[in-house]
Amino acid sequence: MNKKGFIFDLDGVIVDTAKYHFLAWKKLANSLDIDFSEEQNEELKGVSRVKSLEKILAWGNTSVSEEQFTELMAKKNTDYLGYVNTMTEDEILVDVPKVLNFLKEVEQPFALGSASKNARMILEKVALINDFKSIVDGTNVSKAKPDPEVFLIAAKELNIKPEDCIVFEDSVAGIQAANAASMISIGIGEKETLKEADYVFKDFTEITTAFIKQLIEN
Ligand code: BG6
Ligand code: MG
Repeated sequence: MNKKGFIFDLDGVIVDTAKYHFLAWKKLANSLDIDFSEEQNEELKGVSRVKSLEKILAWGNTSVSEEQFTELMAKKNTDYLGYVNTMTEDEILVDVPKVLNFLKEVEQPFALGSASKNARMILEKVALINDFKSIVDGTNVSKAKPDPEVFLIAAKELNIKPEDCIVFEDSVAGIQAANAASMISIGIGEKETLKEADYVFKDFTEITTAFIKQLIEN
């Protein structure tokens, strides 16, 4: 059987942490008298912590010193980790284990490719830390998505050519990163939002093992 490299984003693909990012960013924004809506939170999907804070400050027409910026980032992360600490296996998104188990069964290697610096901690909380052959996260990259760096490192660690890799992503920046890496991009979410993806599914319930098999064989 062919060997393909499967690369999964974390937030919004394996677990729904966007709701926790939202609560933590909202608390921080409101403490600075800046409004923060769920729609704005959507725009932060796949965006690094630094870039997210820059955007929030810009939306609120607010500027802070470098020192305050660092403090605000730390504050948001402490709050966010408070939520992450409560996570269990129950928070793995529906039918993700179906796909991971199938890949194991047919001996196809898979990696994590995430912007988050908390990725390893989250994988530990949901008991998936030992399932990935390689974990590439926000601590391993210098360029954020849509730059392909995170996925190219993952491909290298899997020892699979980028053209033979398949990426699962819920963010526009992530789909662009996968495309820039010459990988097959699979969007998890809305077709209208993820129109640059090669395929789009609402969630993993729509992804059959027959589809995965076809990706492996092609
Ligand atoms: C991405 C999330 O996966 O990671 C973003 O979609 C988040 O919302 C980014 O800002 C960085 O995460 P963290 O955990 O390092 O703050
Ligand atoms: Mg994501």
